[in-house]
Amino acid sequence: MTTPARLVVLISGNGSNLQALLDADLPAEIVCVVSNKADAYGLVRAQNAGVESVHFAKRADETRQAYDERLADFVAARRPDYVILAGWMRILSAAFLNRFPNRVINLHPALPNAFSGVRAVERAFAAYQRGEVESAGVMVHLVPDEGVDNGPVLASESVPIRKEDTLQTLEARVHQTEHRLLVQTIKTLLANKESHAHRSALRLR
Ligand code: GRF
Repeated sequence: MTTPARLVVLISGNGSNLQALLDADLPAEIVCVVSNKADAYGLVRAQNAGVESVHFAKRADETRQAYDERLADFVAARRPDYVILAGWMRILSAAFLNRFPNRVINLHPALPNAFSGVRAVERAFAAYQRGEVESAGVMVHLVPDEGVDNGPVLASESVPIRKEDTLQTLEARVHQTEHRLLVQTIKTLLANKESHAHRSALRLR
């Protein structure tokens, strides 16, 4: 029996996706939750679950590079197998990303190459009303570089928009899809990692 994988989750707000991970039966341990916002309710969710929760504030005179380096040191000290960005609303520079190659995973509420950046659901809803799109979507992707919401896709799923939808009903449907897709994608990733490690161990015999 190998030790469970270690996850560090970065958030900036409500943390409903963090909650989905906390509630899931994952072969992993969430060892720390980090928020750049002091009032992120996700920090309360982590505390309620007995998980280390930290408000990691950017210092007044601190450059992006210095913050990202300090954040990377803090996160690396928790020895994560994966760093999950679940509603993390800061662009991470190479100073952070290069410390965790192939191990930073982001959740974004849009299909690949659809609506990168902020307010993606709102923009998809407006596009639907203009007759430009049929659906919204969700994707989980690796974050190899500073590109915004456009790394190698691990999973994606379209989310139907209905004519009677309001932005609120659509957002609720998108979040439901996120909660399921994020957990499912991480389970698959960990299972592949486990089987890969197992195959490597067999080869080493
Ligand atoms: C999610 O839609 C996520 O994809 C986006 O921000 C939202 C965070 O929601 N980046 P929550 O904080 O997990 O509830």
